[in-house]
Amino acid sequence: MDAHSFSGAGLAQPDGLELRLLCPELAGPLGEFFRALAQAPDHAFFHPHPLTDEQARQLCSHKGRDLYYVACSAGRVLAYGMLRGWDEGYDIPSLGMAVHPEARGRGLARTLMVFLHMAARLRGARKIRLTVYRDNQRAVELYRRLGYAYTEKDPRQLVGILEL
Ligand SMILES: CC(C)(COP(=O)(O)OP(=O)(O)OC[C@H]1O[C@@H](n2cnc3c(N)ncnc32)[C@H](O)[C@@H]1OP(=O)(O)O)[C@@H](O)C(=O)NCCC(=O)NCCS
Repeated sequence: MDAHSFSGAGLAQPDGLELRLLCPELAGPLGEFFRALAQAPDHAFFHPHPLTDEQARQLCSHKGRDLYYVACSAGRVLAYGMLRGWDEGYDIPSLGMAVHPEARGRGLARTLMVFLHMAARLRGARKIRLTVYRDNQRAVELYRRLGYAYTEKDPRQLVGILEL
């Protein structure tokens, strides 16, 4: 992926932006996305599961109530978001998300968050939960502006709750 892939013009064309539920055909692009995340300087902020090709394959074949989405353009994954917990019987889903290092700072995270909130609401969820490292300033502030209220999980992490 070259450094200009996500320039403003690149995002707008040729294929536009799609938000998709994971499916087997996305295993390759998702694996590529995980590799890019794993190499980013802030990779330690995002560890919901291993960031490997094998994990990408498993997620793309997932059968269950948990929801896994990607934002794609031109066959590449630009962002990834999940609502997990329903498979384990919880009422309040846990949200996780990440944006490709080369696609950040353009509003994709905010867009995906709003979409995930709606997906949870349509499932009947009354709240969403997430955890975030205090040092992850960009994410902490984004979530705060979207309405999450924080409590301390441990000295390094916060738990955020959004009332839907
Ligand atoms: C946190 C993350 C998802 C943000 O993605 P993004 O696409 O850059 O976010 P957006 O462009 O939607 O911007 C989100 C907010 O950050 C602000 N922002 C954008 N670029 C910024 C920058 N370089 N520095 C500081 N703030 C910035 C924006 O103003 C925006 O706030 P607003 O919507 O209230 O105006 C992304 O940095 C990431 O994937 N990080 C690694 C994984 C991770 O930490 N995930 C969260 C785990 S809890």
